Amino acid sequence: MYIRGTKSRLTYKKYISSIMKNVLVIGSTGQIGSELTMTLRKQITNGNVVAGYIPGAEPKGELLESGPAAIANVCDAKQLAEIVDKYEIDTIYNLAALLSAVAESKPLLAWDIQMNGLINILEIAREKKCAVFTPSSIGSFGPNTPRDNTPQDTIQRPKTMYGVTKVATELLSDYYFTKYGVDTRAVRFPGLISNVTLPGGGTTDYAVEIYYAAVKGEDFACPIQAGTFMDMMYMPDALKAAIDIMNADPSRLIHRNAFNVASMSFDPEIIKAAIQKYIPDFKMHYEFDPVRQAIADSWPNKMDDSCARNEWDWKPSYDLDSMTVDMIETLCKRFGKAE
Ligand code: SER
Repeated sequence: MYIRGTKSRLTYKKYISSIMKNVLVIGSTGQIGSELTMTLRKQITNGNVVAGYIPGAEPKGELLESGPAAIANVCDAKQLAEIVDKYEIDTIYNLAALLSAVAESKPLLAWDIQMNGLINILEIAREKKCAVFTPSSIGSFGPNTPRDNTPQDTIQRPKTMYGVTKVATELLSDYYFTKYGVDTRAVRFPGLISNVTLPGGGTTDYAVEIYYAAVKGEDFACPIQAGTFMDMMYMPDALKAAIDIMNADPSRLIHRNAFNVASMSFDPEIIKAAIQKYIPDFKMHYEFDPVRQAIADSWPNKMDDSCARNEWDWKPSYDLDSMTVDMIETLCKRFGKAE
């Protein structure tokens, strides 16, 4: 049993490692998992961070060499329970999901992974006393949600299968907390921009791909129309959110599943201009994708994240400009381009 919330902020570092000792990251080779696993391994020195993966998406390089790995298919409850027992797992990061656009083409698979997978994890967590983080998303909102300064507690009637599963994830996670005391906590991630592992099948992926195109000197075909604003976040802030919420003092938490977290909001024209400040020759044209556009049109422009700020001191570090500088520098080094 680990007690949260008894230490002051002065012992924060110690507090982190004394809470999360043995962690299972399900989906460790994905966009978030690949970076979260490595970050947790650097922070937790007295335990194991197990890289859970599915066959066909095996961990490689540093991710494979720096700690244990195990096949962890969310649809195989027995397999998950064995990993939890073997490594005495106390915290599960459940990052298995089909993103919004791909979930529209495979709705039953999305349901299976996101819902049947989740209930397997929650049942194991109930039995074996694990804390669970299963992210929600801006996709949990829908067309009749207030678009600007979207409140923490508001209408959530999404029109996508991704959104349906994310609202159900929030509800089921809260249910396991109130009914069984399972320590479930989460955030609603904006579109995540990163440079280690590419996302796949999301509506916000364009905001990652645009940097790769710019650094490679390609003309970017933007699938989202000008004027379409969405919340976005740089991966270092997303990792901070995912870790800080699990280390937060529970006595301060009024909400649990899941907190709005925000750091920047832009449309394609604004991110293009941010890149052109550093790569003046960068060119972009529009080849809009009706599936992604309809999804984007149903999501908020900008969330209000004051509950996260008040209840666990959430504060992002990056804005569009500082993220752009870091993305361009990192990708220039990767692709051997002069900055
Ligand atoms: N990035 C996700 C998507 O676009 C939203 O959470 O599907």
